[in-house]
Amino acid sequence: MRLVKKIFYCLILVPPVCIVLYCFLHYPENTVDIKYKGRSSPHNSPGYELWSLREQYPHISYKKKENIASQLASNDCSCEEQRSLFSNFLRRDSVTDLELVFDAAERQEVKQRREKEYQRFRERTRSSADALLFAKANSPLEYPIQGVEVRPLKTILIPGLKLQAEPQQRFEVNLTATLGTFDVAAEVDEVTIEGEGAMHMSLSSSQLDNLNRQLQFVTYSNTVFNPNTADTVLFKTDGHQAAFTIKIRHPIIPKLYNVKSQSGYNISALVTIATKTFLRYDKLRELISSVRKYYPNVTIVIADDSDKPQKIEGDFIEQYFMPFKKGWFAGRNLAVSQVRTKYLLWVDDDFIFAADTKLEKMVDILEKTTLDIVGGSVREVTTYSATFLHKLSVEAGREGGDCLKIHQGYYHAVEGFPNCVVTDAIINFFMARTEKMQQVGFDPHLSRQGHLEFFVDGLGLLHVGSCSDVMIDHASKITLPWTKKTQNEILYQKLRYIQASETDSNLQNKLFYFKNRFKCIRSS
Ligand SMILES: *[C@@H]1O[C@H](CO)[C@@H](O)[C@H](O)[C@H]1NC(C)=O
Ligand SMILES: *[C@@H]1O[C@H](CO)[C@@H](O)[C@H](O)[C@H]1NC(C)=O
Ligand SMILES: *[C@@H]1O[C@H](CO)[C@@H](O)[C@H](O)[C@H]1NC(C)=O
Repeated sequence: MRLVKKIFYCLILVPPVCIVLYCFLHYPENTVDIKYKGRSSPHNSPGYELWSLREQYPHISYKKKENIASQLASNDCSCEEQRSLFSNFLRRDSVTDLELVFDAAERQEVKQRREKEYQRFRERTRSSADALLFAKANSPLEYPIQGVEVRPLKTILIPGLKLQAEPQQRFEVNLTATLGTFDVAAEVDEVTIEGEGAMHMSLSSSQLDNLNRQLQFVTYSNTVFNPNTADTVLFKTDGHQAAFTIKIRHPIIPKLYNVKSQSGYNISALVTIATKTFLRYDKLRELISSVRKYYPNVTIVIADDSDKPQKIEGDFIEQYFMPFKKGWFAGRNLAVSQVRTKYLLWVDDDFIFAADTKLEKMVDILEKTTLDIVGGSVREVTTYSATFLHKLSVEAGREGGDCLKIHQGYYHAVEGFPNCVVTDAIINFFMARTEKMQQVGFDPHLSRQGHLEFFVDGLGLLHVGSCSDVMIDHASKITLPWTKKTQNEILYQKLRYIQASETDSNLQNKLFYFKNRFKCIRSS
């Protein structure tokens, strides 16, 4: 497959040629604001509270049904412990109040910091498709269109049910579900209910207001444990029928990083530098000493699959040895798996930090926007720098598979960050949310080459940006004819480029074909 090979050669073999192709991109007029909005959304309930709807029908009385109402109350969990004589022993229902593991002095501050991180996590993970929407009556039935969610085997109040009908003798609605049961949290006068606690419930009354008041108390309990599914509820009255879904799922468990706040960004506390090396210890040492000039205490994680490993000495260095030739993506996976900070910076072992390798800028955009990963520019020779920006899209195909399309370029600029754009694939110099990198992972089949494959696997999971003003130097690969190659350099050339281009390019195509189910790759 020519394109991936071309990109590979561009990145690794003949940088100065491709730089001319990629570097002088105009940054666009089209700018989109992806900054956190800080709209604090209510936590578990979509703002729909049972007893607050009283004002709508003040004249209608009801009687609370304690067993159902108490199940609803349990949607707001409590950490209070039922003290007992044996509370020192682990018992099934013992309660550990996690807030207490922090010193009283810092508890409030930690709580606020966690809340801020959580709100940002929610902004990154929720979309308008999760919001609660109601269909107002154009059929006589009012009901929620989307946004109703129940945790497995729990009970919720179904919000937004209502009937709008012409005067008649008797008003009747029916509700039917398949993965749970209906009930009411309170019983309203002059309403007849059939099927409480069953998958089909029928409500009727001669008074429309009473029926509508009753509908505000309807609950749904999930009874079939099968998370990540949805129940389709049929809502019926004479001559009309509507359907809406209730999502059944666990909440997405956040993974937040607890980093002490201070003025400015403490790079050592926020970022780990990750790299993979293979034979090139001279290059690696040069990289490390350049890092230390600017960031003396930042942790560097090295995955190493050389045949005669050399120990890299120094503080804040973790070197992980792997079996010989274990491979490029396997090594990236190992390095990334060991990172404990909120962000990781990926560098190749032949990059060199310079005065404009400002990690603070990358942290800043990751802290303030919903981006998951942000790339910089790699400077090849003093005048050229490459950012390698590509948009990816997958076009639907039939039985033969889908088509991957690769376009050079980006979608839009980032408001507030004039040197940054949003795209799908970036260069090998990037900072990312550690948790997202670990989620996508590097396919360890790709042993000698691979780059775009990671971004293809991450399409739809990663929000990708690139900033042209964060630079790093690339140790020049242009060797002069009269400089003698070291033994190691000769071995490296042989293993990485000559053997690799014979075996691995087929492997990449096979993975695209089988694993990603593409039938072709198109570039423009
Ligand atoms: C509602 O369900 C009952 C049975 O539970 C049935 O007799 C009635 O016809 C249904 N009404 C409508 C409008 O579907
Ligand atoms: C920055 O973070 C590191 C690692 O967590 C810590 O050791 C150091 O004291 C912090 N520096 C400042 C100035 O707070
Ligand atoms: C780096 O760590 C050393 C201890 O290993 C400490 O003395 C020094 O203050 C730290 N420097 C910074 C900038 O945090």
